[in-house]
Amino acid sequence: MRTKRAYLLISIFVAASLLLAACGGEVATPTSVPAAATSTSAPAAATDTTAPAAATDTTAPAAATSTSAPSTGGVPAGKIAILLPETKTARYETQDLPNFKAELQAKGFDLNNLIYSNANQDASAQQQQAEAAITNGAKVLVLDPVDSAAAAAIADAAKAKGVPVVSYDRLITGSDAVAYYLSFDNAQVGKLQGESLLQALSGKTNPNIVMINGSPTDNNAKLFKAGAHSVLDGKVTIAKEYDTPDWSPDQAQNEMQQALTALGNKVDGVYAANDGTAGGAIAAMKSAGLSPLPPVTGQDAEVAGIQRILAGEQYMTVYKAIKSEAMAAADLALVLLGGQTPPASMVNGKVNNGKIDVPSVLLVPVAVTKSNINDTVIKDGFWKASDICTSDFAAACTAAGIK
Ligand code: BGC
Repeated sequence: MRTKRAYLLISIFVAASLLLAACGGEVATPTSVPAAATSTSAPAAATDTTAPAAATDTTAPAAATSTSAPSTGGVPAGKIAILLPETKTARYETQDLPNFKAELQAKGFDLNNLIYSNANQDASAQQQQAEAAITNGAKVLVLDPVDSAAAAAIADAAKAKGVPVVSYDRLITGSDAVAYYLSFDNAQVGKLQGESLLQALSGKTNPNIVMINGSPTDNNAKLFKAGAHSVLDGKVTIAKEYDTPDWSPDQAQNEMQQALTALGNKVDGVYAANDGTAGGAIAAMKSAGLSPLPPVTGQDAEVAGIQRILAGEQYMTVYKAIKSEAMAAADLALVLLGGQTPPASMVNGKVNNGKIDVPSVLLVPVAVTKSNINDTVIKDGFWKASDICTSDFAAACTAAGIK
């Protein structure tokens, strides 16, 4: 009992420090705390009914087979499952998963009791993975849904079995079975992208832009898109706009290719919702021979995105402190595993998912251009200079003051 209470107190402290750090301490630019999610409006329910591009992974989920769930060092006994949506975007396996595991381990959790599955953008595979995780003994699900609306069925089924669900990064909509939601202020992500694009286009009259949005089944993509439109509409001509199934970089490349053909290469700027789609759009523009390349936005502060910014191929990205997000998710999962109700201090708002107000932790996104790479992703320890400044980028790194 005493260890449980001590554990809870430590968790509260760590979560509170994380929030404080993420809300303004560690990165240079954010000046305000995240718009504590007081919004009560329901996010647009995913209306898209088109099937996502054929999933490549049809194999059964790699479910952990370990059946023992010993309690170690005051950590509650039992298994935790983390279900991530895809592998084409670098963040999941380079940031989310390792940081989630590291935090669990730091708290004394035996990683043999962690079940990890990745759905490779296949919503029905994710449902099977969730069922398998529960069958294999998961007592908490941390779920980053491929399809925000379809995942309601996963959450409802988990709740029926007494398994709490943490909606990780993407909101699970239309279910009252979502215990917590951890993410960033995603409308703000879209606004930062739109504002940066306007900044890059200042001086151009009525610029022509192409919008390459994210996956229509991802609630975040809707928020990024809405945030970007709120800034761009009326200030630019949106000549072509696409929703990109599965957030696929290849698909983004095709979309950009089509736009260039339709517009006779007359493109002044590109809104790309993340670094993966930015990479696809840039590849299309390079093969069409555009020079100089127009400004392109991105998100995730992937190494490849930062390197393109240094090389002058991409204008900006958005840094999200994924480490804080993953650590907060691990802390919440441990409290839930112990059968406790996390204290109010572990959350900083609530977000309505169309059914209920979900207690939420929302962190602050930061715009990154060449001028503040050092003060954001390097200073915050997200990347080391050596991760970015490989030989091809050494000179650009020096010029940008990255050390
Ligand atoms: C995440 C982004 C990511 C995208 C593609 C979004 O839900 O918030 O960070 O780039 O999905 O996986």
